[in-house]
Amino acid sequence: MRLRDKVAIITGGANGIGLEAAILFAREGAKVALADFDAATGEKRVQELKQQGLDVEFFQVNVADRSSVDKMVEDVVNHFETIDILVNNAGITRDALLTKMSEEQFQQVLDVNLKGVFNCAQAVVPYMITKGKGKIINTSSVSGVYGNVGQTNYAAAKAAVIGMTKTWAKELGRKGINVNAVAPGFTETSMTAKVPEKVLNQIVTMIPLQRLGKPSDIAYAYLYLASDESNYVNGTVLHVDGGIMM
Ligand code: NAI
Repeated sequence: MRLRDKVAIITGGANGIGLEAAILFAREGAKVALADFDAATGEKRVQELKQQGLDVEFFQVNVADRSSVDKMVEDVVNHFETIDILVNNAGITRDALLTKMSEEQFQQVLDVNLKGVFNCAQAVVPYMITKGKGKIINTSSVSGVYGNVGQTNYAAAKAAVIGMTKTWAKELGRKGINVNAVAPGFTETSMTAKVPEKVLNQIVTMIPLQRLGKPSDIAYAYLYLASDESNYVNGTVLHVDGGIMM
């Protein structure tokens, strides 16, 4: 029960890593606001989790849209009364080589993966400041740290997430708010399901642990950064990538 009675918003919680984190957080005693664009999947998952006795609610949100984020945060506070933890996990890819990437592809990824993180943090932080306590976890990526072919837009957004994490760690530390990032490596979700198997096999040969990540590998890193065990960790980027890059 490492998160007993803590209220956590997990964006992108309907699928993949976010869903795994929602389950793990709820099993550790948290009240989880599963916030996602995908209402059909999100609501279905929440029903399943409630049947297991977990305290999880679905809130639809488009993190790229500020008014949608404001409404989601307001709804969460109305339902759960407070917010202790924000996991900025929602993300998309629109891959193409630089020479072929459209302005739209560039913009869509920046809107969700960068502005979405800004929108959610800005909407949630006033509640945490009032409490004098809070944990924000931003999801970066191995691509944001080292770059990746076909991911100009994604790598730019994920590198910027690290910049924002460090800035907020400096701005909000004195308010009792810890801000950290997790940089997952290649992880088995619908996101990597789009990558050709041949490419994934090549990637695996570069990983010292010789396998892709599982959503739970990343969810446990979120859990650590959300729990009191990480109270003196601030502004860090936790690499959870099997050691693909060192
Ligand atoms: P996923 O595609 O399985 O899940 C992403 C979730 O975000 C989906 O439920 C989707 O509906 C939601 N979402 C997308 N756009 C949204 C929006 N505008 N507003 C609200 N929700 C939205 O992806 P996965 O793999 O679970 O990714 C989670 C995070 O981890 C993302 O930030 C991703 O960039 C990051 N990541 C993933 C890696 C991987 O290999 N899977 C590697 C490194 C980072």
